[in-house]
Amino acid sequence: MDKVRIIGGTPLRGSIEVSGSKNAALPILISSILSESKCVFRRVPDLQDINTTFQLLGHLGMEVDWDPSRSQVALSSPKAISVDAPYDLVRKMRASVVVLGPLLARYGRAKVSLPGGCAIGARPINYHLTALEKLGAKIELEGGYVIASARKLKGARVGLEFPSVGATENAMMAATLAEGETLLENCAKEPEIIDLARALRAMGAKIEGEGTEAIRLQGVTSLQGCDYPIMGDRIEAGTYLAAGLATEGEVRIDGLEPADLESVLVKFEEAGARITRGQGFIGLAAAGRPRATDVTTLPFPGFPTDMQAQFMALMAIADGTSLIKETIFENRFMHVPELTRLGADITIRGNTAVIRGKSGLKGAPLMATDLRASASLVIGGLCAQGETIVNRVYHLDRGYEHLERKLGALGARIERIK
Ligand code: UD1
Repeated sequence: MDKVRIIGGTPLRGSIEVSGSKNAALPILISSILSESKCVFRRVPDLQDINTTFQLLGHLGMEVDWDPSRSQVALSSPKAISVDAPYDLVRKMRASVVVLGPLLARYGRAKVSLPGGCAIGARPINYHLTALEKLGAKIELEGGYVIASARKLKGARVGLEFPSVGATENAMMAATLAEGETLLENCAKEPEIIDLARALRAMGAKIEGEGTEAIRLQGVTSLQGCDYPIMGDRIEAGTYLAAGLATEGEVRIDGLEPADLESVLVKFEEAGARITRGQGFIGLAAAGRPRATDVTTLPFPGFPTDMQAQFMALMAIADGTSLIKETIFENRFMHVPELTRLGADITIRGNTAVIRGKSGLKGAPLMATDLRASASLVIGGLCAQGETIVNRVYHLDRGYEHLERKLGALGARIERIK
């Protein structure tokens, strides 16, 4: 199993470009199920989760023509398709459950494995199912599978209990081909939702209001092909910015809109960074050791849970004591015991971590547990004196394209050991 070896202590300097967003790409690639002709997507990152999505689409019978060297894929679905997403694929990647909406809308039937728990919490899909039921789907649970059917979905008013990202995506995709008008309320407002709406519109869907809590759709009879570039990855950008600040460096990240990361940029500023917001780029310059700053994770536009672990690594070396409260996932502190191995002083009280910043961490062998936790360990390693080995790097490969190459370009001493 691959490992990453880091020799810490070098301030990061320079500029890099982010890849296309993983979390935007997953539902957008899946949305091609809805289209009757070929969809071309550009700026698709070459990541494990993207490969799992291609396996899933291939399993459903779609044609997948993937060219990783150009970050481009062409997807076409035949008239008849398998509608079954098996446990093996859904277990590998929970986001697979968003095939439910498009399969139901286009083919009237879907059989999708229940995802089960994952490292960061129980993560049920009840909001997805309730929303699809309101659109007229009949849902049954049988042998660990969701079996959904509908002769024709019907537009409706659908209020989500919580602004779940996945449930908003599932409901949006289902409603594109439903009969009549759908009003989705209490929607997630994440930038990835906006990107999905734009991709669907490029296919001919009638949607408005994405990025607000109410999304209105007029069902159309069919969707067509498109040629669509995926947005830049704001979480990847935030991770490299956190690494720049933690190592007291100066970095510029190209390829995304600063507004998509505003809640995180504000926290970097509170921690002492000088931030430049440009068109399509963000600059960060550290002014000495970061200051302790409290954070609470919330749905967008709040501070993203996907940046919580990386921010904690930053706070581990900050001047002062900070509190980080996690309100989205109940078990998302798996990085804490590993950061402690580097000498960090962190205690957990319920859903809040108390971090007493220390000026020096020391390198150690560490175990990655989930995607963003792994990124926080890399940041810890980049600050720590001496050698840090991060084991189980496959977690990082799910979400960070060319991680060592990009950090290397910023001057980090990092290599992959096969
Ligand atoms: C997406 C992101 C993930 C991010 C999360 C929150 C993708 C592929 N993943 O995950 O990286 O951390 O948004 O920003 O885009 N919940 C339920 N029932 C449901 C659905 C969700 O109880 O039917 C709960 C979840 O367990 C969690 C919370 O709601 O506690 C938020 O989940 P949700 O917004 O749905 O996250 P995902 O779409 O799974």
